[in-house]
Amino acid sequence: MDKLLIEGGRELHGVIRASGAKNAALPAMTAALLADGITTIQNVPRLRDIQAMGDLLEILGCAVETEDDVVRVDARHIHSFEAPYDLVRKMRASIYVLGPLLARFGQARVSLPGGCAIGDRPIDLHIRGMQALGAEVELEHGFILARANRLQGAEIDLVGSRGSSVGATVNVLSAACLAEGVTRILGAAREPEVVEHARILQGMGAKIEGAGTRTLLVEGVDRLEAGHISIIPDRIEAGTFLVAGAITEGCVSVTDCCPDHMEATIEALVRANVQVEVEATQVTARRLGEIRPIELVTGPYPEFPTDMQAQITALLSLARGVSRLTDNVYPDRFIHVRELIRLGARITRVPGQAEIIGVDRLSAAPVMASDLRASAALVLAGLAANGVTEILRVYHIDRGYERIEQKMASLGARIWREGE
Ligand code: UD1
Repeated sequence: MDKLLIEGGRELHGVIRASGAKNAALPAMTAALLADGITTIQNVPRLRDIQAMGDLLEILGCAVETEDDVVRVDARHIHSFEAPYDLVRKMRASIYVLGPLLARFGQARVSLPGGCAIGDRPIDLHIRGMQALGAEVELEHGFILARANRLQGAEIDLVGSRGSSVGATVNVLSAACLAEGVTRILGAAREPEVVEHARILQGMGAKIEGAGTRTLLVEGVDRLEAGHISIIPDRIEAGTFLVAGAITEGCVSVTDCCPDHMEATIEALVRANVQVEVEATQVTARRLGEIRPIELVTGPYPEFPTDMQAQITALLSLARGVSRLTDNVYPDRFIHVRELIRLGARITRVPGQAEIIGVDRLSAAPVMASDLRASAALVLAGLAANGVTEILRVYHIDRGYERIEQKMASLGARIWREGE
């Protein structure tokens, strides 16, 4: 297993290009299952999760070819309808194959994902959505077994106890495109990645209205056509690099990004006294002086993203005063706190919330990455800490950040990878 080493205390300066969004590319790859043809997807980030999704599609019978940032999925010869536990437990987004398999082939067997480092992550809304479309769904031997002759359009309420669900909206939307009749999805997620998914499906011939609002209207069609897809920039990766500029008292510009998708992150940085300049496809973050403490609550888009919570916690650990951070999407997503404390942060926890008492400096220590965004937070803290920070279990970061050490190094960071 690899580890990352970071010699902190260097200002980061320069320009970095945002990669394609993992959370848009994963559903896009499963959209390919809906068409009897070859789908070409561009601007796909090179990540472990993308590789895992490719492996899953191959198990189903697709031919998957990757060349630089282009992935080609040939879904003409699907012969299996099962997503095995071994893959699903490593990558929850495997559940995105449920809707397309059910809609096109009338059957799917997808392993239940099980526990997750960031807390309880049920999939009841995915199941409820498929049932509403007329599928028979059973849970058996740790698998979701779903069957339907042809899915039927329906009215489906996808509001869960924690608000809208990105995954359930994507899954049900994929399925509804090939259902007979009209589907109305209420309480749809409005994340840019969901809007992107709707755009991709429309490009394949789906009839969808209301993307970006809480209500999606889908008129089912008999078939979808394979075609060309291009993936939107990763707003979370971009936000992480902006924090890297701010936490190291430097100045980082992220190009080829979509500032409109990052408003809540930009606003949080500005409130924390980071100077942010926004251009059409570029955002620059420059540290002005002291980091100001802020109160922040995560929520579904357009609220502050839970996927930026850990990174902002790292930044606020150096604020002049006390910050309060509440995660309403994943109230248990605070495992990084224990590791940040090892780096000298002062953070106390109550359920769903962290109170961050700013310190003057962080000091390097060996720490353990527990999940994707937690590991990003540790990298950021390591960049600001005195001494050499060692981050173990770095495979988490490879799930969602493309060449992070090369990108950080190009901005002036001293960061390298070693075998553990
Ligand atoms: C997606 C993102 C993840 C991000 C999350 C929230 C991908 C591949 N992953 O995850 O990076 O952190 O959105 O923005 O895009 N819920 C239920 N029942 C369900 C499904 C979800 O109660 O059936 C709850 C979840 O526990 C959570 C909330 O709804 O509290 C939102 O989860 P959801 O939007 O579904 O997250 P994912 O799609 O899994």
